[in-house]
Amino acid sequence: MQYENPKLVLETSEIKEGSITWKSPSNIAIVKYWGKYSDQLPQNPSLSITLETSFTRTTLHYAPRRTPGQGVSVELYFEGARHEAFEQRVRKYFEKILPIFPFLRQLDLKVETANSFPHSSGIASSASAMSALALCCCTLEDEFFHTLEDDEAFDRKASYVARLGSGSACRSIYPYLALWGETGEVPGSSNLYAIPMAEQAHPVYQTFHDDILIIRSGEKKVSSSAGHGLMHNHPFAEARFQYARKSLHQLLGALRTGDLETFGKIAEAEALMLHALMMSAPSPYLLLAPHTITAMERVQAFRAETGHPVYFSLDAGPNLHVLYPESVIHEVRPFIDDQLAPLCEEGVYLQDWAGEGPEQL
Ligand code: DP6
Repeated sequence: MQYENPKLVLETSEIKEGSITWKSPSNIAIVKYWGKYSDQLPQNPSLSITLETSFTRTTLHYAPRRTPGQGVSVELYFEGARHEAFEQRVRKYFEKILPIFPFLRQLDLKVETANSFPHSSGIASSASAMSALALCCCTLEDEFFHTLEDDEAFDRKASYVARLGSGSACRSIYPYLALWGETGEVPGSSNLYAIPMAEQAHPVYQTFHDDILIIRSGEKKVSSSAGHGLMHNHPFAEARFQYARKSLHQLLGALRTGDLETFGKIAEAEALMLHALMMSAPSPYLLLAPHTITAMERVQAFRAETGHPVYFSLDAGPNLHVLYPESVIHEVRPFIDDQLAPLCEEGVYLQDWAGEGPEQL
């Protein structure tokens, strides 16, 4: 797969000004990506549910560049205000993808971006933010050169480019379910980009809810990138990467058949293992909060009492994701309101669900 293309350069007279807007969602991994090598390649395949209401909305404004230069000319506004730290990160990202989109150097760019979820809610925004940017770049290429008219080719390139910004972002391109990482079990799977999985799964997974308990908001103590780094000298790294493949094998079976019990068992085991890996890293750390543990126990007790298929997952943070199919919403929501919402900061949880993927606005 080679996306570098020195031919994607504009005749200066062709350049008009314009803007492109994409809305792109976050996702929650069931089998986790934790550990990477080389340039954003995963140590094991991961599989996620694409969310709907947790998204980033990004507008890329472009105009002919006034002062030529080597790097990329970009300004970034986050939720209405210039944001130097994000601007630097995006400039670095655009410079990294210049061999793929050399025309970016010929433009003055302005990025306006905002998240649907509250600022510092503790929701990882890199998946939605980087996928939205990648989609804007692919649309820009297609507007200028008509090179990505085929939808499948467009999505694959967007996923590849999103991966270079943040690994988990490559999975956000597809509706409902996405798989990233090469496995002999799924033809067409790749370490370079994610592929859609919804068509290979039982329709019940398209009805899944993910209510996100905001147990502690604010910046994480250790970033995901640093966490991935700690997998390099991790005493359990090899065992983890093998175990993830086993989990994926079981998950693929549960996806095909609609076996929610197996699905839920894997989701919870993977969430706990992710945090166990942090706690057993060469420089150990703990991201769970006391209320995270209480919430996990309550989910498991509710399931044992009622038999309803309600499970949890976690990202690299303390906020619990409560997963269940639409068929039990009338039983589960009152339980969340009564027993889990009081564990949340200001009683707040976000209602999300499996969604249709990014949308150009
Ligand atoms: C725990 O994709 O945020 O959410 O590639 O360094 O940007 P970078 O990491 P990132 O890692 C996400 C890790 C995770 C699990 C997952 O989404 O699979």
